[in-house]
Formats: sequence, structure tokens, C-alpha cells
Amino acid sequence: MAQPDTRSDAVPLGLDPDWWRQAVVYQVYPRSFADADGDGIGDLPGVTSRVSYLRDLGVDAVWLSPFYPSALADGGYDVDDYRNVDPRLGTLDDFDAMVAALHGAGIRVIVDIVPNHSSNRHVWFQEALASPKGSHARSRYVFRDGLGENGELPPSDWQSVFGGSAWEPVGDGQWYLHIFATEQPDLNWALPEVREDFLTTLRFWSDRGVDGFRVDVAHGLAKDLPPVLPSAAQLAEIAKREDGSHALWDRDELEEIYADWRRVFAEYTPPRIAVAEAWVPASRRARYATALGQAFNFDLLEADFDADQFRQIISFNLAQSASSGSSSTWVLSNHDVVRHATRYGLPPRGTGEGADTLKSGTAWLLSGGEEPPLDALGGLRKARAATLLLLGLPGSAYLYEGEELGLHEVADIPADQRQDPTFFRTNGGEIGRDGCRVPIPWTVSGPSFGFGSAGAHLPQPAWFGASSVEAEAGVPGSTLELYRSALALRRRLQGDETLDWVEVGDPDAVLAFRRPGGWLVVTNLGETNIPLPEGELLLSSEALSSAELPPATTAWIRTSD
Ligand code: GLC
Repeated sequence: MAQPDTRSDAVPLGLDPDWWRQAVVYQVYPRSFADADGDGIGDLPGVTSRVSYLRDLGVDAVWLSPFYPSALADGGYDVDDYRNVDPRLGTLDDFDAMVAALHGAGIRVIVDIVPNHSSNRHVWFQEALASPKGSHARSRYVFRDGLGENGELPPSDWQSVFGGSAWEPVGDGQWYLHIFATEQPDLNWALPEVREDFLTTLRFWSDRGVDGFRVDVAHGLAKDLPPVLPSAAQLAEIAKREDGSHALWDRDELEEIYADWRRVFAEYTPPRIAVAEAWVPASRRARYATALGQAFNFDLLEADFDADQFRQIISFNLAQSASSGSSSTWVLSNHDVVRHATRYGLPPRGTGEGADTLKSGTAWLLSGGEEPPLDALGGLRKARAATLLLLGLPGSAYLYEGEELGLHEVADIPADQRQDPTFFRTNGGEIGRDGCRVPIPWTVSGPSFGFGSAGAHLPQPAWFGASSVEAEAGVPGSTLELYRSALALRRRLQGDETLDWVEVGDPDAVLAFRRPGGWLVVTNLGETNIPLPEGELLLSSEALSSAELPPATTAWIRTSD
């Protein structure tokens, strides 16, 4: 069994209320990070056993995807009990030990909170099912009478995000709303009891030392459901207004809900912080940053490896954060999308209609990773360049476990071993997100490549060993060493949250900006070498053999001004 990390060179966390503004946050998907008890599922003691790895990587905070009791109908985003730990992942004592170890290493802890829906095994939902129509228990969720003579038809034609109807019948003419999987009934946020209960949950984890929250589907929660429901087509029209009037998403009442949350955050020193996962039009994103502290900007993650797209996204988001008073967030990978080394090794997606990130690489995934052919080395090279660019930007960087190893998406998971509800609800029409959730490799060989002493809950490919921590640690030029060097250097170079664009060569091919203190970041996104700007070369995403910057490479340079 893995041992807790007992190295004692504790780093004081301090009380800086702004610690998050330019933090590097590392996302741990707990079931796939490290398995201490050898049951094939990663757990909290596993995280504790890897604290020195996280410290040596140089991250400021860890964000844990849900570790709460769950039937795993949606990878843990179907929560049975918001104030407990899934027994397969440990206990509350294990949680406390993990927080203490992370804090001892100077690493803050952010936990995922899932307020839009509970699981269907939550005690409230069980009570709702056992209670009659019109009961208080049912009012905690969104129950409606079905249409048709005997309520045999769903109350509307709405589709769930994962495919299929968004309504499920309960056998007495009523149906409940689940915007995601059937096992994820939507809570009724109009009810004060629901609001209060989440405040209790926020205090519960804050009291245990949690520093912040990642708010799942932060643009959901509030709903406007008149007696006659709009059709899906009407909703699609309303969505175009971007004015907070959509029945299900991004409603203005969210401000009130999050104002209550902020009051809870302010009860603590330093105040707790939250980052919103809000898939809203860019024009509406700043509202979430203002309301909660920070909001994810997924623009880079949705873009191709392209100088113009990157430049526009960076400028736009820096202006947005200036207007909200928050800092920008930058993300290239997470547990919901195809890993960025793979995305960049596939043909560009373009920016037109239908360029949907969650479906990025769909054809490739559907073909089991065969078509179109993946340029694995080219994709990784671009990923390293994009990451070094991202880490040079003002604001905070969110990294996803395994990207520091240069991992690719796993495309060839057999159908009978898939877990993502997207796969099942679309009858395999969409492959889903399992390919980025395969347990990460720690060793070159051995059972589950050092993930645990037994197997892994999703099958790991043979090529994982070559991308393991063991294979890369201490190897100059490896992706792991690139991340380690970049994070250490970033800490030293970091200054005010500003940048100035600099013209270096053809703007269609080169992106260059200067940060305070003479930190110059240059990325060559073109096809030909460019002369390296003058100054001291601090770090580059590929080894440089001359005073030129080759294609798909980023350099950090210290200049005299
Ligand atoms: C968020 C999570 C995703 C989950 C969904 C429903 O988008 O990131 O993994 O499936 O919410 O909770």
C-alpha cells in the first residue's frame, strides 16, 4: 500500500486573499490519479501518497473532481451525499489527512461542488420518489405532470446534454427533469431549503480547510418553468438573445444565489474562492467571475493552434478580466475534452458553426483512433508550445493530470469497458470522455503502470509506460521536466497581471508578448524558422540548435527592459 508523504519541509500557506489570481491549479480526477488500496480505483490516500510529486511539479493548488459517494453514473458528478467521501475513495479522516499533507507542501485545495443536480440516490430524491405528487419532497426537484391523457408523454421535447429526453417518468403520471443523465435529477433552486443546504455544504468543506470550490455547471441551477413549457426550438431562439432570459441556462437570478455563497466565503480567512464552470457566451462570462471570484474561459481549449485565434482570445479575455476585477483563467485540457496533445495532432477544427470542443476529434474517436491519422509527435510538440505560452500569460493556469506527461487521448477503449453516459445515451454515436480519464502512468511497467497494485478501472494502453513519471523524471527535454522547469521559473518571473504585445516577424505566424520585468514569451505557430529575439534564453519548449525558433515552439526570453 502507498505510504503517506511524510517529508517535513512544510511551506507556510500564508493568508494572502489573492493567492488564486495567478495560481497554477492542477486538476486531479481522483479515481484516475493514484490507487493506494489496490482496488483499481484511485483514492484520497493515493493523492496523499503523491504530494511530493505535486510539490516537485510546482503547482500552487489542486482541484479535485468529485470524490463524494456516487454510483458513478457520470464519473462522480452524480453526488449521493455532498458532505461525505465515497467509501471506495476513503473516509473523511483520509480527506483531512490529504488536506494537511497538501497544505504542508504549500499546496491549496479546491473541491468540486455540483449544485445543479444531485444523484438519484440522494436521500432527498429517494424521499421524492416515495412521496406523492405535490409533496414538499418533490418540490426539491423539478417534477411536472406528463402530457397526454395519462401523462404518458414527457412535459416537453427537451433533450438532455448527454442525449435522449431530459425527462424521466416516475410511474404516477409525473416526470422529473434531468438536464444531464437520468441519474442526475435537477434540483429546484427556487426553494430556500435547497439554497440553505448548499451553504451548509460550503461551510462543511471550508471548515475542513478547503481553500476554494470549482462550481460545476455554474450557469445551470436557476430555472424559469411556466405552466406551458417552451419547446426546444423556442429555447434555441431565446438562447441567441444572451440576455439572461433562457428557461434553463445562465439566468440572472444566479447572481442572488452566488451572492449568498460569497457571504459564506467571506466568513473565512483568507476568504474562500470559487471558479465557475459556465459554458456561456463570452459576453456573459464576466458576470460569473464577478459573482464567484473566477470563471473558466475555455476559449483556448476550443481554438486551433493558430496565431490569430490565440491572439484574439488572449486580448479579449484580458479585457474581460479587467472589467470583472477577476484574473483570467487559461485551460487547454480537462476531464471533459480530448487531451490537447491529441487535438493538435488532428486536422484543425476551424472556427465555424459546429466546431464543438466536446466533440473535438469525434470522427477520430469513433474510428478507434484510426482516422484521420493522428500526428502524435506533431500534436505533442504543439501542445508543449501552447502550454509554455499559456504559462506565460497573466492570470491563473489550470492543468489537467497527465498533461505534464504529454499524454495523448486513449481512443481504443472497448465498448464494454466504457463508462461515460454520453456513450450509452447516444448508443455509441458519441464516444464520450473516458479517453482522457484513463488512470495515469507512474512507472514504465508493472500492474497499472504504478497507478496501484492491481488493475485500472479503465484500460491503459501499452504505450502509457513510455509516458510515465518514471520514464520522464530527470530526463532533460521530457514533457515532465519541461513543466517542472516552467512552473519553477514562472514563480520567479511572475509580475503584474499585464502583457504588451510585441511584433516579432509575421503576426499571422508568430505570437509574442512581454510581461513586466522583461519576460518575453514568443511562440512560432508558423511553418518556418524565425530569428530568436535578443535576450537571455530562459526556457524553450524544444531544444534549440541555433539562434532560431523553429515551428511549433515557444521560448521564454529575458530582455533588458
Ligand atoms: C460538468 C462536468 C462534467 C459533468 C457535467 C454534469 O460539465 O465537468 O464532467 O458530466 O458537469 O455534472
